Parts: sequence; structure tokens; C-alpha cells
Amino acid sequence: MRLPVITNPVAASVEQGLHTHSLTPEQAAYDKAVHALADSPYMDVPKGIGIETLVRCNAACDFCPYPHLDRKGDRMCDALIEKFLDELADFPDDVPVSINPSRVNEPFLDKRVMPLLKELERRYAATRVAIFSNGSTFTPKLIDDLGTLERIVLLNISFNDHRESEYERVMQIPFTRTVRNLDRLHEAFSSGAVAAPGIAVSRIGDGSDADDAFLRWCNDRWPQFQARISPRVDWMGNVSLAYQSRPPAVTCGQFFKLQILASGKAAFCGVDSTGEAGFGDLNDMHLLEIYNHEERRKLRKDLLSREHVPACGSCALLA
Ligand SMILES: C[S@@+](CC[C@H](N)C(=O)[O-])C[C@H]1O[C@@H](n2cnc3c(N)ncnc32)[C@H](O)[C@@H]1O
Ligand code: SF4
Repeated sequence: MRLPVITNPVAASVEQGLHTHSLTPEQAAYDKAVHALADSPYMDVPKGIGIETLVRCNAACDFCPYPHLDRKGDRMCDALIEKFLDELADFPDDVPVSINPSRVNEPFLDKRVMPLLKELERRYAATRVAIFSNGSTFTPKLIDDLGTLERIVLLNISFNDHRESEYERVMQIPFTRTVRNLDRLHEAFSSGAVAAPGIAVSRIGDGSDADDAFLRWCNDRWPQFQARISPRVDWMGNVSLAYQSRPPAVTCGQFFKLQILASGKAAFCGVDSTGEAGFGDLNDMHLLEIYNHEERRKLRKDLLSREHVPACGSCALLA
């Protein structure tokens, strides 16, 4: 039986405030792993690609830019999704690349996402699937469909709060529906009907006692999932927060990833919600051309610690 892993990096980052230059073991291991990528095929080929096919979400989390996003409703046209699929043929077939259909959206609100993931797995042996979802869309049919995916490497359910009233205040969606869906997902995962190395249930931490209570509650209800607390960041200043996690002095794994917005524009990273800090556009550039843009390669060569990269100074994510 898999034992639940309890992690609370937010608590660790608060503690780190007392020792400004020390890193937690998790942060140090992350920094080392990102540096190792510079001597791998990922210098030339992205390790992960986020593709946002539709900017729509049914929730309105109070820490997320979605509720106030100008790009709401933007939809990637089918021809651009086809171009994306076709260009992956130019990637080496022995270098795994994770495709993540979640950016500032709820991925399964776009009916094209599941067929896209299946087609990626069918066409390319190198495809791995990474999914972030709030879990509200996980109907029995969707859970069955998830069971047909063979190469899920990451499935993260952003559950955020175990207290019904707080959950509904923060996310603006019904608590009981999500809990019922996650009960079903837990059963499907426990029986092996959904195959993934692990399923995480996450909370964007706020440094309060609720963080640890969340971990205990989730471990009790869904012992086969991995409960975790994630740092809280301000999306490059696009969200105002009462609490924000302290950025560690480490470089960033996002330099080895691509993030494509529904318009086709490339964002700088996973927390560039507007795309203003990115360079390149899938409409008129090849995926590998965007990834190997001179400025982008320089980030991977220099691997500066994030306090020395203007776009990264306020970000505590280890992604
Ligand atoms: C933007 S959401 C999109 C996918 C999906 N709707 C979800 O909630 O998982 C992707 C991830 O970003 C996280 N996120 C949103 N706002 C955040 C913030 N201010 N700080 C850190 N993570 C955040 C969400 O909790 C989620 O795990
Ligand atoms: S965090 Fe996810 S679920 Fe919440 S509003 Fe943002 S996109 Fe929607």
C-alpha cells in the first residue's frame, strides 16, 4: 500500500525567512536537478509544454488571475492545435516531453482536450501527460477516459480547502460535488483503473494552521493520494495577495519548458498569465524555434538564481 506523503514547503519557506541564504532540502535538490538539465537533450528540446486550448474556468479562486483575466474566452483554433500536433513529429522520439493542457483554465471544459491527449499518446512515444485540474469536471465518464491514458506522469487536483465554507468562498464552486468526484477518482486510482505514478491533492498555502489541517484531512479521506501544500505567488504582480511565499535563491525549471497561450503567443513561464513577458508565437514560429530563441537559450545557459532574473524575482514555485 502506498503511504501518504505529507509535504508542507510553505511552512519551510516561512522558516527559511529566519535564515535568508539557506535552502530547504527540497529547494536544494530542485536547484541541482534543474542545473543537470543543462547537460541533457533538454537544452535543445523542451522537457514540458503547457498548451492552453481554451481560457475558461468554472471557478474563481481568489488567488488566481483567472477571475480578472482580459483573455477570458480565448480559444485556440483547430488549425493551430493541428500545427502543434504536427510539429511534435520533429522532436526526438526518445526524449520524453510532458504535455500539460492546463494553464489559466480548467482543461476539461474544452471537449477537445481529452481527444488531444489521446492523439498525442497515439502518435508520439515520447509523449507524457501532466494534468492540473480543480477536479470539479471529473465525472464518471471523464474518470473512465483518464483510465485510457497510458502515460500520465502528473495528475494534480487543486482542492485548496477541506472546509466547505472556506472552499466555496475561495473557489466559488460547490464543495460536495468536488469531494464526490475525488472519492470516485480515489477509488479508480486505488483499483488501478486510473494509472498514474501518484495523484496529488494540493492547496495553495497561506502559512496558517489550515495548511497542516488540510494535509491531515486529505490523508484521512484519500490515503492513496499525496496531499501537498504549494507556495503562493503573485503571478508577476497580476494578483494581489495578503500572503505570499518567499522566493528561494534557486534557478527555475520553467526555462526548460514552453507555455503556449490560446492565442498562440508563448508566455514566459507558467505564472505569466498575460503573456507579456514571453517571446515567440506558435502562429508563425515552430515550437523548437520558440524554445531555442536566443534569449530563451541564454536563460538555460546562464541558469541564474531567480532574484537576478527580472521576471522571476517574486516567484517561489518549484515547477
Ligand atoms: C491556474 S491553475 C489551472 C488548472 C486548474 N484550473 C487548477 O486549478 O488546477 C494551475 C495551478 O495553479 C495554481 N495556482 C493558482 N493561483 C496560484 C497562486 N497565486 N500561487 C500559486 N499557485 C497558484 C492552482 O492552484 C493550480 O494548482
Ligand atoms: S486556480 Fe484553477 S480552478 Fe481556480 S480559478 Fe484559477 S484556473 Fe480556475
